[in-house]
Formats: sequence, C-alpha cells, structure tokens
Amino acid sequence: MNYIAYKENILYCEDIPLSELAEEYGTPLYVYSKNQILEKYRSFISGLGNVKYQVCYALKANANHHILQLLATEGAGADVVSAGELYLALKAGFSPDKIVFAGVGKREDEIEFALKQNIFSFNVESVSELHTISRVALRMGKKARISLRINPDIDAQSHPYITTGLQSSKFGIEASKAIEVYTYAATLSSLELVGIHTHIGSQITKVEPFIETANYIVGLIGKLREAGINLTHIDFGGGFGVQYINAVLHEALPQEETSNTIVPAPAEFLAAVLPILQTTGCSIWIEPGRSIIADAGVLITRVISTKENALKKFVIIDSGMNDLLRPSLYQAYHQIVPLSINTYETEKVDVVGPICESTDFFARDRLLAKSNTGDYLAVLTTGAYGFVLSSNYNGRPRPAEILVNGDRVRVIRPRQMMGELE
Ligand code: LLP
Repeated sequence: MNYIAYKENILYCEDIPLSELAEEYGTPLYVYSKNQILEKYRSFISGLGNVKYQVCYALKANANHHILQLLATEGAGADVVSAGELYLALKAGFSPDKIVFAGVGKREDEIEFALKQNIFSFNVESVSELHTISRVALRMGKKARISLRINPDIDAQSHPYITTGLQSSKFGIEASKAIEVYTYAATLSSLELVGIHTHIGSQITKVEPFIETANYIVGLIGKLREAGINLTHIDFGGGFGVQYINAVLHEALPQEETSNTIVPAPAEFLAAVLPILQTTGCSIWIEPGRSIIADAGVLITRVISTKENALKKFVIIDSGMNDLLRPSLYQAYHQIVPLSINTYETEKVDVVGPICESTDFFARDRLLAKSNTGDYLAVLTTGAYGFVLSSNYNGRPRPAEILVNGDRVRVIRPRQMMGELE
C-alpha cells in the first residue's frame, strides 16, 4: 500500500494532509510514514519458512533515532559503518548480536569499541584489516568474529557512483585472492572465521546481478569446504532498488515513460536469491537500507519565486542540495508533485534551490504540474539518503523531521536553529 498518496486533490501522508504539516512546522520539512516503514521492513521477513535469516537495516540510509527504535523493536539487526553508527544503533536498542560492522577503513579505536560491545561480526575488506582486527582482539584478549567481504567483479548495472562490486572499486577482497585470504585468515588465532560478505552496489533494479552474486557465493563456499574451511554465514549485503519514477499518480500529473523502470518488490528479489543461497545450509543475512525507508519519506518545500529566460523557466524553491544531495551528486530522479492539485496545466521547468551552485537543482527540463509562488511541493521517495546527507552549506539550518502514524504526528527531529550554525 502507498501511504503517501492523493485523496481527491490533496496529498496525504497516512491520514494527514501534508499541507497541514507544512503550515505548522514550516519548510523544508522531511515527513515519514511509520506504517510504510513497517510494511516495507515486514515485506523482507515474511514468507521465509525456516530459513536462518536476519535483516540488518543499513543505518546509513536514515539514522534518525526514532526510526531506528522502530526497526529495533521489530527485531531488525543493524549494518553499521562507523563507531558513530554503532553508537546510534546501540542507543536505539539494536541487539549487539545482530550488528555487523562494514566499511573500507575501520580505525583501531572503532574496532576496539565494536569488540567491547561484542557485535556479531566484522565484514573485513583487506588483508591489512585482518591484521589490524587480529592485533586489537589479541590485545583485548578477545576473539573477533569475521566475514570476508569478497568483491565478485559483478556489474550491478546501477549508477557508477553507487556500484561497489567491480574490480576497479575500492571495496572488498578481489575474487581471485579469495581462497588464499580465507586460508590465511583461518590461521589467525584471535579471529573466528564465520562467513562471506558481498555488497555489489545500491539501487539495483534487476534480479540478474543478485542471482549472479548468489551463484558466485555458493561456488566459493563449495571450494572453501573442499579446502577444509567451513563457513556458516552469508551476509548478502543490500542494494535492492526502489521505484522512483511515477511513485505517486494522479490524473492531472504528467507520467514518466515506464517501459523498463518497474522495480521488483522485496519479495521478488528474495525469491530470486534465497533458494540459491539456502543450498549452502548457511545462515543468510541481508542489509537493506534504501528499500526499507526511501518511499516512506517526502521532502516538503515551498516555491519562493519563478523566473523565465529565453531558454527556460525556473521554479525556485526553499530547499536545496544541502537538504537533498542526490540530484546533484548522482543526477538522481525524484518525482516532484504539488501538495494540492489546483490545475491540470503542466509546464516544462527546472526546479532549483537557493544555493550558489549550478548543481543545486532537483529537476531539469521536467514536465510538472504548473506551480506558482507560495505553492507547496513534495519531493518524493526521499526517506533514504536524504536527511543523512544534509549539510549546513550556505548557512542553512537542517530541516525538521516528522513521523506520521495514522492521524498522529510526532516531531522526531526539531528544525535546527540559526544559533546552532556557529
Ligand atoms: N551494506 C553495505 C556494505 C553498503 O555499503 C550499503 C550502501 C548498504 C548495505 C545499503 O544499501 P541499500 O540497500 O541502501 O542500497 N548515497 C547513495 C547510496 C550509497 C549506498 C552506500 N552503501 C544514494 O543516495 O543513492
């Protein structure tokens, strides 16, 4: 179900008209639907039968404390990439034995902190990191559980900036060295070698790269078993794509061409890979971030003014790349719709922010419902990699965040004050 949708001509988040929130809390404003988050999370855990399975939410997608608490209460684990994220996960109530620590550059103090907390495992990125973890564990008189992150050299067919499973990328241990590194890791007495980790990229919209990765993992586990190394754990990473195009429909709104943009649902991704991975008898963990939180969030903004030159019309809004970096950084598409539909007229415009950078745009040459100064707009599917990537650039306080549950509204992060910019 879509919890962010039009009822007649008014855009709602659950039972609340978004314009009411814009009026009360001001703009720019991030709003999230609690029930959408829960539905998405549950779609990753339903119908699994007796698979030994754990969903570890990737905190990097959205680390708001209240959202983390919600997922921790549901029984989710956590995928963290820094001591800071580990701290946030623990504070929100994630159980340490469901936490995995990834990241291509873990510092000794971060490793020490994670070992003290007794997390489930480190996803190890290199031989030199094996040495570091082993040294820290030895010093602390502990045994560190580890998985090796293997880079299978598989093309995720996503944006190059969020593709991580190719040999040219900084991530993981190259596939051709996998057996050699596993054999070496097995000799280090302060490490307990539990499994394999892969994460080939983000916003992956096809099942094929995942299937290829799953087959690769099964093959490698088989070879390792022949070599006397018996892994019991697969961490399959995240990266499951979401539908950014035509996220919300209304007869007055222009629709984008959808021929090859229908993204599989979580259950379809899982149905494609779990039967392959299950043949190993290993426990299977996944680390979705975007696919749990992206479509539960919208960024509300207001039109400050419009202007036209001989080439273009610009709609200038009160939100910019400091609030939502994805369009500037990845040329990412986010649908933009009015909170209230007052016209069936459309026009081709650039939607731009107030920041002194030409990359400060949310849409270029996009056919949108006609908007006027003072209108509210919603930038859709911004729950993931939205607020977390925000900054104070150009002296702009960060937006507030609101969580809606039915007709109840909760401020889960107050708007930053001017005084906090110093
Ligand atoms: N696990 C690992 C090891 C990761 O590096 C990531 C994301 C995830 C899980 C979660 O991936 P997801 O399910 O969210 O695709 N800022 C970019 C996305 C960067 C993703 C980085 N790693 C964006 O806005 O598209």
